[in-house]
Amino acid sequence: VIQTLKHVARLYTCTGSDPDDAGLIADAAIAWEGERICWVGPTAALPVEFDHAATDLSGKVCFLAPGLVDCHTHLAFGGWRADEFALRCRGATYQEIAAAGGGIASTVRKTRAAAEEELYAVARRRLRQMAALGVGTVECKSGYGLTVADELKLLRVYRRLGASTPMRIVSTVLGAHVVPPEYTQHRGDYVSLLTEELLPRVAAEGLAEFCDVFVEDGAFTSAEGRTILEAGKRLGLRPKLHVDQLHDGGGAVLAAEVGAISADHLEYTGPTGIAALARAGVVAVTLPLASLYLRQPPLDARPYQAAGVPVAVATDFNPGTAPCHSLPTALALACIMNRMTPAAALRGATQVAARALALHDVGTLAPRQRMNALLVEAPDVEHWLYRLADPPPARVWLGGRELAEAFPEDRGDAQTRTAF
Ligand code: NIG
Ligand code: FE
Repeated sequence: VIQTLKHVARLYTCTGSDPDDAGLIADAAIAWEGERICWVGPTAALPVEFDHAATDLSGKVCFLAPGLVDCHTHLAFGGWRADEFALRCRGATYQEIAAAGGGIASTVRKTRAAAEEELYAVARRRLRQMAALGVGTVECKSGYGLTVADELKLLRVYRRLGASTPMRIVSTVLGAHVVPPEYTQHRGDYVSLLTEELLPRVAAEGLAEFCDVFVEDGAFTSAEGRTILEAGKRLGLRPKLHVDQLHDGGGAVLAAEVGAISADHLEYTGPTGIAALARAGVVAVTLPLASLYLRQPPLDARPYQAAGVPVAVATDFNPGTAPCHSLPTALALACIMNRMTPAAALRGATQVAARALALHDVGTLAPRQRMNALLVEAPDVEHWLYRLADPPPARVWLGGRELAEAFPEDRGDAQTRTAF
């Protein structure tokens, strides 16, 4: 059966390539059959075969946008780190807390102790909350297990979530998040464990599409990152990178050299790095929530756009640097902190984010695309993001079905117990 919305006050297709043009159609209509869009355009041009039984939104102040794509999250982990947040509020730095055994290492301890079932239940609940905010596609990284068994445990959670929810899940192995404590005196052995055991297992079981490395003081060197990513490439895992988050370590240049699909964070990347990303066609991913929580100088999107580097926006949802799963909030912050226009921010979490995940059927509203969409009761995307993405979407479609039907609310005590 064909479903149609007509007289939608504003519809953003997010097609095209101008960062500041979200493809606005006024008084628009959209029709879809099953999961796929079949027609998009001005209501005046809606073919008659799509018009009967159309839902008429005349007179409603609203806009429709493509379902959002969160192209960088650390979705599954054990526990939270609110205690460290309080310490950071009083002046402790992220690096000081990590050096004292907290930070990523403390989440690794809690993640290793958590059963797969528990991680699954919490992550599923989180995904449902993200879906209600208009998100239909989520990239999920491992990286809090840091043993072969615990990394595989996280990636299996993601595989189950992809199979049991209407969300599109894209998995990334981040075994190279930090060197786990038991390997600090012989880190070369950990790199070998990744290249010789973990990555081959992940590739053989088809558990991830991308391989990520955190290149930073206290994490991995550029040389180690290159070794790990080249090993991943030989196994068919495309590179992604966490780079230049805490200082300019030449990470953007490395991302270009290894042919990464995206380079993420980039708070400290300079002109050389930007030029390298442009030449290699790497997508830059800005994570304004992480910059905000760590009080870092945010990435300025303008020189990227001037150089022709597409800029995506994601949450970086994780218990340390970005304990907020709201992509709409990240979009508002991208405008305020990264100097992106609301149109550029919206494109950054739709078409450009899909590109950062090598996905071709989400991120735009166009024929043959998956019908993922959100309807917001605000006059336009400028009003919405200006108000810090208030109100939340009134309606969300995932694969052509409305949220409540596509992704029914989980009920029961198990969810209540695992809420935090
Ligand atoms: O993307 N930079 C490294 N990894 C995460 C933070 C992880 C954590 O603090 O738990 C990030 O910001
Ligand atoms: Fe991250």
